[in-house]
Parts: sequence; structure tokens; C-alpha cells
Amino acid sequence: MPPACDGEQRDPTPMTGDGPPFPEHGWLIADDCLPAMRTTLAHLAGQVDLVLTDPPYNTGRRFTYRDDFGGAEAWLDFVAPRLAAARDLLAPDGALVVHIDEHQHHRLRGFLDRLFGESNLLGEIVWDKLNPKGDAGQVAAQHETLLTYARDRGAFRERRRPSRAKPNAGRMLGKARELFARVGSDPVPQDLLGVIDRYALDIDPEAYRRRYTLEDARAEFREWVEAQPFGGGERAYRHLDVDGRVYRTVSMAWPNKRSPPPDYFVPLVHPVTGRPCPVPLRGWRNPSKTMRRLLDEGRIVFGPDEHKQPERKYFLDEHLRENLPSVIRYGGSDDALLRSLGVPFDHPKPVALTTILIEAFTAGGGIVLDPFAGSGTVGHACLELAASGSDYRFVAIQSPEPLDSKVAWQRDAAELCRAAGRPAHIAGLMEERISRCAARLRQATGFEAILRGLASDQMGRSSS
Ligand SMILES: C[S@@+](CC[C@H](N)C(=O)[O-])C[C@H]1O[C@@H](n2cnc3c(N)ncnc32)[C@H](O)[C@@H]1O
Repeated sequence: MPPACDGEQRDPTPMTGDGPPFPEHGWLIADDCLPAMRTTLAHLAGQVDLVLTDPPYNTGRRFTYRDDFGGAEAWLDFVAPRLAAARDLLAPDGALVVHIDEHQHHRLRGFLDRLFGESNLLGEIVWDKLNPKGDAGQVAAQHETLLTYARDRGAFRERRRPSRAKPNAGRMLGKARELFARVGSDPVPQDLLGVIDRYALDIDPEAYRRRYTLEDARAEFREWVEAQPFGGGERAYRHLDVDGRVYRTVSMAWPNKRSPPPDYFVPLVHPVTGRPCPVPLRGWRNPSKTMRRLLDEGRIVFGPDEHKQPERKYFLDEHLRENLPSVIRYGGSDDALLRSLGVPFDHPKPVALTTILIEAFTAGGGIVLDPFAGSGTVGHACLELAASGSDYRFVAIQSPEPLDSKVAWQRDAAELCRAAGRPAHIAGLMEERISRCAARLRQATGFEAILRGLASDQMGRSSS
């Protein structure tokens, strides 16, 4: 069958019907995702906030599930109607995010451009896994791609801005707090203590105590930030204000070509020399009233004298998020996490990366659907988000693919499923992972997850 695009051939199953009410936290469905989305979940049409999924890549290898479709056309014929069905479930302001690697990236991009319309592309994200594949004789891929589309870019942008928490903001604020707390104390300098210790010197450190000042804290913070492997955006936050708040400086120049009115050209007076400072060529970004307010609030930074153009302070604690960049570096695997849950699975996607994506493409909550759920990473991430207070619910669909008793970890997985009273297939394994994750969250936070396995031939019972 050719790819099902708008205006092209579509799966004829109608998307109608009233479904059961959505459980508080999630649905686990053991089924082929095509009929599941076209019939079981048809009542969710227009309600899903995010489809985040990781279909088989057609690598030609066999992990657990079938990943050799015999050819690119056959693979596209398999994936296309399923992604089209997922698109039909999206809310008008919803988005789709799909993982893909170098094998089918170009084909999937072409298909999705047609399905969503090129103008609805939100961008491609390169997930740098920091670990090149060992393939000899060709470029060693060390990334996967995430293709991201809005169902309708205009509607998406009204409510959502792909952003993420600044990865190191917490550490930076912590370091600033630690250094600022020392201001006014009389410590022995750390480097002196180090030298005394290293050379076993017979020196009384007490004689070398000296007052630790705000300038010391500022210098130490700057040096610390510069020594960290932070990106440019975070590295700019290397200043400490008089009250210990972390800030960066930003130009206040008018950004557009056409000049603003004269009120945007009023010079700022230097607080020490009393002389006017230079005004940007095209004026300030704000009218004089706003500039006065910024001044009163201590949000403007002057140079040592009037020759430097003043800049604006941006406090880190007020800018904890940043635009989602097109490259995300994340080298970790979740092997240890799954081991700690006692659930074996080959190559699960990292929960941390999944959480970043969910938060980036939604507006603080909503329904997240994964039609190729594997071990249930998307569900796991949604449960963690819900446990920390956000209103996320998920639908995880996984076909009931049998576990192969000839592969050691799958034998273990089948054993685990049977011991837990679940069917010995990948969907049963997913269910067990999600229910272990829910139990762990209940223990740690008291959070009660309401999960439901939906009616399907293989799994038609509650898993809460
Ligand atoms: C790349 S894996 C997903 C792994 C997942 N992201 C995780 O972190 O565990 C793709 C999954 O899609 C499942 N799958 C393949 N065909 C399917 C279908 N028609 N419906 C539902 N799931 C399917 C495979 O069994 C496999 O578990």
C-alpha cells in the first residue's frame, strides 16, 4: 500500500465511536497499533497532545522485535499508515515527535513532510549519543534524529514553545549559594590549606585567615563557570549580583532596522561619574519609562565609567528554561535503571531524554501517545512527571510480540512475565515495567497511578 497521506489513499477504517473514560494516568494496550488507533482509541481523535514514538528502524538486525522489513518500501508501507493514524488522533495544537536513525531518516522525512505538510515541520533534532558506532568503512554514526511536526504550526505556536530546563541551572544556583554564604566569613584560603597539607608544612593556618568578600565570591564563581563544560548560553551566566543572584548581561539595543521614536534615545546617566553613557546607534529596546523601571529594580549593569554602554541583567532564577536546541547531547543508557527495576530490555530509550521531549512539546500536561511503546519508556516518563505534580496521561501501545526463548535476556523476560502473572510477550513486559515503576513511585512519593490494560485479545485487564 502506498503511504497514506492527506489526499492520498488512507486506511478506510472510520475513526468514530465513544470509548471508555480515560483512566487517570494511562492505558496500556497490547495490540498492533494500527487497529488500536483506528478503532479502540478512535474516540481520542483530536485529543492527543503529543505523539512521541520510536518505531522499528529497519536496521536489518533483530533485537527483540522484527526490525528487518525486507526493503525500504515494505518498511514505509508498514510505518506510514500507523503514523497517519497517530496524526489523526492529535489535537489541533498537538505535535508528533519520531525517533529515527540513518537507515530510513530520508524516507521518513519525505513521508512526514507530505503527511503533515512541510510548513508544519517544527524542526529536526539531532540526538548526539556521544558514542560512535564501530562500523568500519563508512562514517561512524553517533546520532539519531528526532523529526518533529505540528498538526497545525499556527495553533501549536499559540500555546507551546519547544523549550527545556537549562541542564546546569540547578548546579549553578547551588554553587552561587555556597559561595555567597561564605561572604563576610574569615576562612583560611583553600589553596593555602592544600599546600600545607601536600608538603606537610609546619605552618599555623590560623595566622592566615582573611575576610572573604563579595569580590572573592564573584571571582571564584566566574572561574568555576569557565572551568565547566557548559554550552555558551549557560556559560554567559557567570556574574553574581550584590545579593548573590546569578545573572548574565544582554544588550539593550533596539533590534529592528527601522528606528524607534525619540523616547528610545534618552541616555542613561552613570551612577558614579554622573555623566551620560552611550546610547546604541538605533536607540534602546525600551521606552524611557521602562528604562527607569529597570534602573529602579537594579536590572541595568554599568561599566566602570560612562564610556561603556549599559546592559541589562538577566537573572538565571528567572530564566530557568531555554529554547530547545537542535542538538541534544545525551550519552547515558537506561540499562542500570531497568536493572534496578528488575526488567530486562534491549536498547530502551532514556527516560531523561524522553522527559525533555515530552515537556518541550506540550504545555505542562496532556495526553501523550506512543504507538510503538517497546518497554514503555514514554509511560514511565509520564508517570514520573505526574508524580511530581504535572497533569500527564499516556497511552502506550505495544504489539504482543513473543519473547524469543533462544535469547538469554528474553528468556529472563518471559520468566519474569510468567512469575508476575502476565503474558510472556513484549507487551506483557511493558506492563510489568510500568507497574513496577508505579509501585516505586508509590513507595517514594505516595503517588497512586491508575493504569488500565484495554480490551484486546492478549491483555484485557486492569494493571493498576
Ligand atoms: C524501537 S522499539 C521501541 C522501544 C521503546 N522506545 C523503549 O524505550 O522501550 C519499537 C517497538 O515497536 C514494537 N512494534 C512493532 N510493530 C508494532 C505494531 N504494529 N504495533 C505496536 N508495536 C509494534 C516492537 O515490538 C518494538 O517493541
